[in-house]
Amino acid sequence: MDKINSFSEYQEQYKKSVDNPDAFWSEQASTFLWKKKWDRVLDWEFKTPSVNWFINGKLNITENCLDRHLDTKADKTAIIWEPNNPDEKHKEITYKELHEKVCRFSNVLKANGAKKGDRICLYMPMVPELAIATLACARIGAIHSVVFAGFSAKALSDRINDADCNILVTSDGLYRGKKQMCLKDIVDDALQTCPTINSCIVLQRTGQQITMKDGRDSWWHEEDELVNSICDAEIMDSEDPLFVLYTSGSTGKPKGVQHHCGGYMVYAEYSFRNVFQYNEDDVYWCTADIGWITGHTYIVYGPLLAGSTTIMFEGVPTYPDAGRFWEVCEKFKVNLFYTAPTAIRALQVYGTEFIDKYDLSSLKTLGSVGEPINEEAWDWYYKNIGKENCWIVDTWWQTETGGIMISPLAHITKMKPTFAALPLPGIQPCLVDPDGKEILGNDVQGNLCIKYPWPSMIRTTYGDHERCKQVYFSTYPGMYFTGDGCRRDEDGFYRITGRVDDVINVSGHRMGTAEVENGINEHSRVVESAVVGFPHEIKGQGIYAYVILEDINAASDNLRKEILSTITKEIGPIAKPDKIQFVSGLPKTRSGKIMRRILRKVAEGDTSSLGDTSTLLDPSIVAEIIEGKV
Ligand code: WT7
Repeated sequence: MDKINSFSEYQEQYKKSVDNPDAFWSEQASTFLWKKKWDRVLDWEFKTPSVNWFINGKLNITENCLDRHLDTKADKTAIIWEPNNPDEKHKEITYKELHEKVCRFSNVLKANGAKKGDRICLYMPMVPELAIATLACARIGAIHSVVFAGFSAKALSDRINDADCNILVTSDGLYRGKKQMCLKDIVDDALQTCPTINSCIVLQRTGQQITMKDGRDSWWHEEDELVNSICDAEIMDSEDPLFVLYTSGSTGKPKGVQHHCGGYMVYAEYSFRNVFQYNEDDVYWCTADIGWITGHTYIVYGPLLAGSTTIMFEGVPTYPDAGRFWEVCEKFKVNLFYTAPTAIRALQVYGTEFIDKYDLSSLKTLGSVGEPINEEAWDWYYKNIGKENCWIVDTWWQTETGGIMISPLAHITKMKPTFAALPLPGIQPCLVDPDGKEILGNDVQGNLCIKYPWPSMIRTTYGDHERCKQVYFSTYPGMYFTGDGCRRDEDGFYRITGRVDDVINVSGHRMGTAEVENGINEHSRVVESAVVGFPHEIKGQGIYAYVILEDINAASDNLRKEILSTITKEIGPIAKPDKIQFVSGLPKTRSGKIMRRILRKVAEGDTSSLGDTSTLLDPSIVAEIIEGKV
């Protein structure tokens, strides 16, 4: 399939996609392998909401990722896997081999009772088997729910139970930087409260001692010996669910964002090919974890649908040293590289000595995702990694959008540091004022909404459609609300300014303040807490927790440590507050609402303009909080 190859073509395509979306998407979808063509392109309304793409089309996404490449690309490398430890040998898996491995594991899942529509949880390290298991679920029509392997037992069991998963795929342990962790112990702990799981398939990764439960647990390699490599792909309806992925919102527990087969497939490949301007034989590396949406769409599905070579990296940017990313770029002659601002900022502090050692001349396009990229990080990336020769694509999107929504097209769209630039064809963003009125024209600012469906948009939140409606389609009726604030400059370029709800973004990880508060409140000596984000040099945002104790005299560093371990147990280490301040009360209005605006200001260290505090029940608490700030 051709790419957009000039700015005027982008403008033409964009116009076509708005004037006649059906014709536009029909053309895009025609490049895939369908078992049966769709009857109609799109039916939709944003009230319920109900969105259906490629109606009555039948397909299997893995035939498009794998089978259809076998004629021309059987021996092309599909996945390069780079281990955590550079002394361990990397792996290269061809399309033919990947096809075979996926078919085998599909048969393993079937032998364990998996059927179309079942939910299967994957809790694994970044090893090829995670991609294989993901694709195997899709091949048999089971819905995968990948849970990032940094989440705690409690968080894992919550996610398994919310989706009623019946199979869990995991590993004995994992390596991450200097650390080795026992995943299976966490799993055993989680499964005590997961009655629906009847089999647990365990990959051997570290070889460490673990316990296997009779009748429930089995080894991946032993199961693999019992199956053959022939597995016809299940025929899926375009609107059958493909996966759920849990993400945090401003209230309640994380919700399972659900994506469906047909539309997700079309948009994952379309956006990958055009944003990165992927050329046949480009080597592509996205440093994310498959536990997040970036890994789903731009490590597994998008690149494989496009028939590219995608790198999976098990490790971290600073192990064994801060040159690891660049060492890997040189080693595999990476052309397209995609990472997060938090990684860039973390590496920036080490200076350029770790970069200068490596030949980065293969790089053409550098992507950024997950949070707003600050100008300093942008410049550093552009200069030191791109050598002022690469295009930077600052890609804005969300778990719910399934794919990149607003981004420059590499080598085509003018770059403006810190701007995600322009919407992809098919995407109709708009800015609205607090009353929901669309703000027209340029050089304006508002809340970012999308007013027309796109193929990879969220269809529902698992098991709770009402929640999907409430969270995304009720704030501004008739539009999808992103939760982000945004500026559109005089050229019509978009710049995302950050969340406008109670969601914080820590190192590109999305977290609900309520979720962190609930975790902290689990500590027996905590009465109440309030969590806000504050600017953090490396993480983008840090977590600041104000905590009320049963007895303020119990405040101590030791108790701080205990609270941190409670939160690690409840959610995982990524949710640990950077600062905990013990307070005797919180600034609440007479109706009992916490005035977070004040807490944010104090956390930022800016107490000069706290605004109107006269509606507070007890204004004196503000002075105490400011004074007590440590
Ligand atoms: C939130 C979505 C989509 C992949 C990773 C995050 C923020 C994401 C950008 C960007 C500014 C960004 C937004 C968004 N965000 N990309 N390029 N510029 N902000 O997915 O966990 O669903 O988080 O991340 O605030 O709403 P997610």
